[in-house]
Amino acid sequence: MKRIGLTILVLAFAGWTAPSSAWEDGPAQVRNCTWCHGMAGQGYTVAPRLAGQRPDYLESQIKSFREHTRDNPFSKQYMWSAVAAVGPLEARDLAVYFASIAPKPASDGDRQLAARGRTIYLEGIPEANVASCYACHGPNAEGVRDIPRLGGLAFPYLKMRLEQWSQGYHSGTGTPMPTVARSLGPAEIDALASYLSFVR
Ligand code: HEC
Ligand code: HEC
Repeated sequence: MKRIGLTILVLAFAGWTAPSSAWEDGPAQVRNCTWCHGMAGQGYTVAPRLAGQRPDYLESQIKSFREHTRDNPFSKQYMWSAVAAVGPLEARDLAVYFASIAPKPASDGDRQLAARGRTIYLEGIPEANVASCYACHGPNAEGVRDIPRLGGLAFPYLKMRLEQWSQGYHSGTGTPMPTVARSLGPAEIDALASYLSFVR
């Protein structure tokens, strides 16, 4: 009886650790990131998904946390210290590592708002001077070069990012996002964040 109990325990433990086997191959610092960003970097509560993100974007953000240019409250609270000891070479390794993991969509937006969000994503809002997101983030929100993938990020994270640019927070010099997001109202932000959360 005891032996069976132990076998079950061992199996349960093996089953639990199986998904983590991927990150055992990753750079040494990965565990310092996944305890907030979730197993395999899929995101957890306020820490966004890193899996499948553009490597050049991940690298640029690590740099901007280090230099304190990305200065919104959660960045200050969590990320400034998390990357304080991450040098440029480790930053590149971590970025390449997380970018190589297949991303899972959060799918946590409001389905009823997704169609409106898709229209804004593709066409912008010409009468309000809002640029189409498609032009920079790609037809399926997959990102390009150092422009981030948006598809499948969590609704609350997308919403907060889109709100914070017009509150004066920045994530680097010369980013177009403060200008792009300035004219988005709360309803448009909810629609965009909903649509994007479902994109695979
Ligand atoms: C204590 C929790 C915590 C730890 C540890 C942590 N992060 Fe974060 N990370 C966050 C939070 C919260 C955010 C969201 C910041 C915001 O709201 O703008 C974030 C954002 C990021 C972003 C920006 C993603 C995007 O889409 O813009 C990157 C890149 C990132 N973290 C990389 C890392 C790496 C690499 C490590 C390990 C060296 C790490 N993080 C460790 C909590 C954490
Ligand atoms: C002119 C190019 C351009 C356009 C148009 C554009 N973006 Fe961006 N976007 C960027 C760049 C570059 C970044 C990365 C730099 C930064 O975060 O400041 C970014 C970052 C973002 C992020 C942060 C993602 C993350 O992981 O934190 C979100 C969200 C976003 N854009 C949403 C949108 C939406 C929604 C639209 C359309 C209303 C849009 N963008 C239009 C270039 C653009």
